[in-house]
Amino acid sequence: MADKIAVLPGDGVGKDVTEAAMKVLDAVGFKAEYTYGDIGWEFWCNEGDPLPERTIELLKNSKCALFGAITSKPKDEAAEELKPELRDKGFVYQSPIVRLRQLFNLHTNLRPCKAYPGNPLNYRDDIDLVVFRENTEGLYVGVEYYPLPQEVYDALAKYNSKMERFGKSSLEDIAVSCRIFTRAGCQNIARQGFEYAKKFGYKTVTFVEKPNVIRETSGLMIREARKIAKEYPGIEIWETNIDAQCMWLVKNPQDYGVMVATNMFGDIVSDLAAQLIGGLGFSPSGNIGDNFAVFEPTHGSAPKYEGQYKVNPIAMILTSKMMLQWLGEIEMADRIDKAIATVLKEGNVKTYDFGGTHTTMEMADAIIEKL
Ligand code: IPM
Ligand code: MG
Repeated sequence: MADKIAVLPGDGVGKDVTEAAMKVLDAVGFKAEYTYGDIGWEFWCNEGDPLPERTIELLKNSKCALFGAITSKPKDEAAEELKPELRDKGFVYQSPIVRLRQLFNLHTNLRPCKAYPGNPLNYRDDIDLVVFRENTEGLYVGVEYYPLPQEVYDALAKYNSKMERFGKSSLEDIAVSCRIFTRAGCQNIARQGFEYAKKFGYKTVTFVEKPNVIRETSGLMIREARKIAKEYPGIEIWETNIDAQCMWLVKNPQDYGVMVATNMFGDIVSDLAAQLIGGLGFSPSGNIGDNFAVFEPTHGSAPKYEGQYKVNPIAMILTSKMMLQWLGEIEMADRIDKAIATVLKEGNVKTYDFGGTHTTMEMADAIIEKL
C-alpha cells in the first residue's frame, strides 16, 4: 500500500515550490497517498493558530510530511495581524515549524550542502558538506522570561553570584532565554553525525560549539562528542568555535565534511553553508525523528514573490529527494539528483536567483526532462 504523506505548502512561495516538487515526484514514478494540510500565516490571522489541531492529527496519521515554507513574525507584530475578534484573547504566536519539531520530537535537522558544478553561485565546485543540527533543545526550547519573575531572579542569584551585577536593574529591564542541553540530546546528534560520516565515507566530523565561553552547555556537548568519537576509529573529530568556524567556512569550505552543531549554532552555520553552494534556493533540509520526519527547504516564504512562479524550486526538489531517501526509495532519489546535476551543468535553464529568467515550473520541467 502506498505511504500516506502530508503535504503542507504553507505560505508565500512555499506553494509555488511545492507544486514544482510534486510534479517531479510524479514524474519520477513515486506513488503515495497525499493529503494537503493547513499551516501558516493565514491560519494564525483567522484562527489564532498557524498549526491547527486538524493538521497535527493529519501528521499523526502520516508516514512523513513535505513542507513548503511559512511566514513568521515576532510576537507583537503577529498579534497585530490577528483578525479583530481574536485580538487580546491570549493567542500567542509560535513558529509552527519549531512547534512541529518539539511535538513530534524531530531531534535531528539534516542539511546537506553540496555544490553542483555549473552553478555560477558556487564558491567552489568541490564543496560537499552536511550540517547535523540538534533540533529540539538549546535556545529553542522556549524557556524564556520577560519581565524576569522575582522567584526566577532569586533562584538564579542563590546559585550564582554572577547574578549580582543585575541586582540593580528592575526586573522589567531583564530578559532571560535559557540554553538547555541534555546528555541524551548531545549524544544523539553526535552519534548521528558519526554514523552518517561512516555510511557516506566522510573523514571528519566537526563539532561547532563555544566551550571556551559557554562552558556548561557547550562543554557537555564536546565531552559527549569525544566519547562517541572513540567508537568510530578512522573518522577524525574536529572541534571548532562557532565564530572561527564561520570564518573558516568562507575561507576553506572544501575542508569540511560532516558538521555537528546544537540548535542555534546549527541554524546559523547552515545558512552560511547554504550560501557557499548557491544560497537558499539550493538547500534542502529534513527534520527527522525516530519514526516521523518533516522535510522542508531551508528557505523562507519570500512573500513578495508569492504566486509569481519566479523562485528556484531546486531546494524543494532536493528536499523531496531527501524524503525519498528516508523512505528507502534510493533509486528514485538518485535519478532526481542526477537530473538536477545535469540541468545545472548544462546551464540552459536558470531561475532569477542565479542569473536567469526561467520560471519555477520551467525549472521543474527541465529537471523532469532529464529524469
Ligand atoms: C530554519 C529557520 C527556522 C529556525 C525559523 C523559521 C523558525 O530559520 O529552519 O533554519 O530558526 O529554525
Ligand atoms: Mg534558519
